Amino acid sequence: MMRLGAKGLPVILLSLFLVACAGTQTIPEPESPGARLYQERCTRCHGLPSPKRHTSEQWGHLLVMMEDFMLEKNIDFPVQEKEMIRDYLYRNAK
Ligand code: HEC
Repeated sequence: MMRLGAKGLPVILLSLFLVACAGTQTIPEPESPGARLYQERCTRCHGLPSPKRHTSEQWGHLLVMMEDFMLEKNIDFPVQEKEMIRDYLYRNAK
């Protein structure tokens, strides 16, 4: 069996970290303010769902649901942020 020296583990952890980061790069218009906010606000409790996963109608319902979850956890979700994320999702929905 291959033995990992003291130097082996950090290298493996680093590559896992890089793979995890690469996974979030696949959303549309990643540099837009809406996308940035989406990545920041919607990854606190689960991974980032692709905007293409739902229609804009479904996103409307989901955002209301997520707002409730955030309320339960005392996570602040200002209206302006919600509108920016909603616009972003509607623009890029299925
Ligand atoms: C306070 C925690 C929390 C935050 C913040 C949050 N969610 Fe969720 N989300 C949940 C929970 C709990 C579920 C229930 C399903 C589950 O167990 O994953 C869920 C499920 C979902 C689902 C359905 C499952 C799926 O993967 O298709 C989507 C889509 C979703 N969230 C989108 C969002 C979006 C968009 C945001 C940002 C506006 C967001 N979430 C922020 C807690 C949260």
